[in-house]
Amino acid sequence: MREADKGDDLLDFVKDLTDPSTLAVEEDLGHGYVRLRVTEAERRQALQDIRSVEDVVKELVRNARDAGARHILVSFQKERGRWRNICVLDDGGGIPPELHSKIFEARVTSKVKDVVSDHLGIHGRGMALYSIKQVVGEVDLVGSELGRGTVIRARIDTRSVPEKKDQSTFPKLEVNEDGILQVAGGPNNVPRVLTEFVIQDGNVEIYLGSNAEILSTLYHLSSELRKSWAGGREIKGRPLWFELGGIREGKALKAFAWERLGLAVSERNAFRVLEYEIPPLMSINELLRSGADDPCIRRSDLHRPTRADWGEQLARRLTPQDLKVLAARIAEAFETIGDKCWLSTEQPVIKRRKDRLIISLRLHEKED
Ligand SMILES: Nc1ncnc2c1ncn2[C@@H]1O[C@H](COP(=O)(O)OP(=O)(O)OP(=O)(O)O)[C@@H](O)[C@H]1O
Ligand SMILES: [Mg+2]
Repeated sequence: MREADKGDDLLDFVKDLTDPSTLAVEEDLGHGYVRLRVTEAERRQALQDIRSVEDVVKELVRNARDAGARHILVSFQKERGRWRNICVLDDGGGIPPELHSKIFEARVTSKVKDVVSDHLGIHGRGMALYSIKQVVGEVDLVGSELGRGTVIRARIDTRSVPEKKDQSTFPKLEVNEDGILQVAGGPNNVPRVLTEFVIQDGNVEIYLGSNAEILSTLYHLSSELRKSWAGGREIKGRPLWFELGGIREGKALKAFAWERLGLAVSERNAFRVLEYEIPPLMSINELLRSGADDPCIRRSDLHRPTRADWGEQLARRLTPQDLKVLAARIAEAFETIGDKCWLSTEQPVIKRRKDRLIISLRLHEKED
């Protein structure tokens, strides 16, 4: 785009925003939502806003932040080197059921009275989700409940909507003369987008990880919340992941993760979450608090050490190798006992659960 054209676009945009007829409401959709009247020029401008994977993340996280979320979790996973799967989960105010099918339409917004201004500029035109749908195609509302939060998932073909190659490095940070932390360089990648949100608004905890890591983090957040709740402490709202911490079985966890939270994980990984083999992530806020002066923060710094040394996780002290040895001994011991009763057994399955081992021996009639 020529410099002059850019200037014209900007002028048009400002003019549209200040023109009462442009901002006028075309349709009242109830529940505080409206469809704004808008010019074709502004629609085009908004479509151009979504040019990269980073733009998609920015707008989804911005919406979650606007909805008053205390926690925003971004799962960020590449599929076969080409498709980027993103799922943004929040515990904000949620979307009324009547509006679920409308939020991806142009100019539908609940922000008509208070146009919002943040570090990315003015917004509240009801165009971001519409633009993402137009540009990316695959974007869906997985679920949203009033007072419990929202989950939105997108699958992006990076051949048409690109992303920065380096998605592992966090930006360089520095403290300016006023003592305020700010970004001082580094790639314009997703870690940077999220770091900027954290710096702007330290009240919202933001997490970034793979599907399994985000699931583990939610599992942990839910378990903590349920402990307070069971202890009779008053808790503020029940996020969409509240039920997660009550699940004890890999298959059920996998189903809940996919159907309710938009996170595709294998049953094996769901099991590893239950076993604390995939530990919950540190939030970006915590990472910045602990390591802002580190000149080279990486995404792997968000990983906590596995909890093998947790006091109550006695069984975790046994390695998979130890379990193999034990299983072989059990199978061997069973042979003579089984002979007596005309029984044989499959290879023993040993599961580690907190302070116990659960050993299962599938029996068969012995054949001669
Ligand atoms: N995570 C969310 N939680 C609650 N409501 C949401 C969420 N995401 C979207 N919404 C609702 O959907 C509406 C449309 O979102 P969209 O991003 O398209 O427009 P906007 O945020 O109003 O304005 P802009 O185009 O500047 O982003 C929002 O106004 C908001 O009411
Ligand atoms: Mg928005």
